[in-house]
Amino acid sequence: EMAEKAGYPHFMLKEIYEQPRAIRDAIHGNAGVIEDVAKEIAKYDKIFFVAMGTSYHAALVGKYLLQRLAKKVPIVEEASEFRYEMEDLIDENTLVIAITQSGETADTLAAMKLAKARGAKVLAIVNVVGSMATRIADLTLYTHAGPEIGVAATKTYTTQLTVLTMLATALARVLGTASEEYLNELESKLKEVPELVEKVLKHDGALRELAEELKEKRDFFYIGRSIGVPTALEGALKLKEISYIHAEGLSAGELKHGPLALLENGVPVVAIAPSGKTFDKMVSNIEESKARGAYIIALGDNESLKRVSDVLIEMPPMDELLTPIVYVVPLQILAYHLAVLRGNDPDKPRNLAKSVTVE
Ligand code: G6P
Repeated sequence: EMAEKAGYPHFMLKEIYEQPRAIRDAIHGNAGVIEDVAKEIAKYDKIFFVAMGTSYHAALVGKYLLQRLAKKVPIVEEASEFRYEMEDLIDENTLVIAITQSGETADTLAAMKLAKARGAKVLAIVNVVGSMATRIADLTLYTHAGPEIGVAATKTYTTQLTVLTMLATALARVLGTASEEYLNELESKLKEVPELVEKVLKHDGALRELAEELKEKRDFFYIGRSIGVPTALEGALKLKEISYIHAEGLSAGELKHGPLALLENGVPVVAIAPSGKTFDKMVSNIEESKARGAYIIALGDNESLKRVSDVLIEMPPMDELLTPIVYVVPLQILAYHLAVLRGNDPDKPRNLAKSVTVE
């Protein structure tokens, strides 16, 4: 097992560090293929995403990408809910995009089967080659992340996001919903994402120190806006899964509608704050949290964050649509260190399984 971990103390850390390579493989592995899939699905306007867990968060990012680039408005459902709520709404004019790294999650497979039975077109985004999901789906896109052993998904998530970015770009090109110039630029920027992730991995030491400081905390809040919301949800999920610390991820706009009442001295608030159209609003959310005594950990590329945060995790500047892939990485690392410092095995969290094959 030591050899398989390639010198890393845990599979999870190894898999976090494999992300630049995995993202590169996802890009190369789908170049050419994705255009054909985009052509096949371009005509659908009724689009559902179904997924569970971390893959559900990828689906949420997929929704923002399809909205922004392809001007489609998909509905994102947890597969376990889709089955009961959407049954009558699915027909041959429906496209169901299932996201599942294992291709074996029972609820996701059941949703796919239901969609197929109703005549929908089913596209699966999967990591495990030949898994059940690929056999049910009409079309499959692979994430090419390689085997993921750690129960908490890391590289399978960032490669799902990579594939979704490529798919939304290809769809936009087929549909003419974004300028060719912008789409070309986004594609070349996506190719630089592995290097951006390399840069962010250098925060590992600082994140370990931060984890040391925060390891006795009982609650964490993760806030984001727009395409940063799924990142907040995923950061909170990673923390819960492996550190067993209670965490909530939410859209920053919801803070005032309840969660603000829970903020008191020293409660960590992790703010996803990239430059872009939501930045100013995020700064006000940070300030309002700080005014209640919250301990602010901001992720962003704007200098002014130094003034409003206790800790700034400096991120390289990038197109807002690419932020989900890069911004989740420090959150994975922070959760990892908190788990280890609290004496947990991050690869095998209690009560959880790598793939949930019962409904
Ligand atoms: C389990 C795993 C999660 C994963 C979820 C969905 O809960 O522990 O890491 O996100 O299943 O798995 P899937 O294979 O469908 O992506």
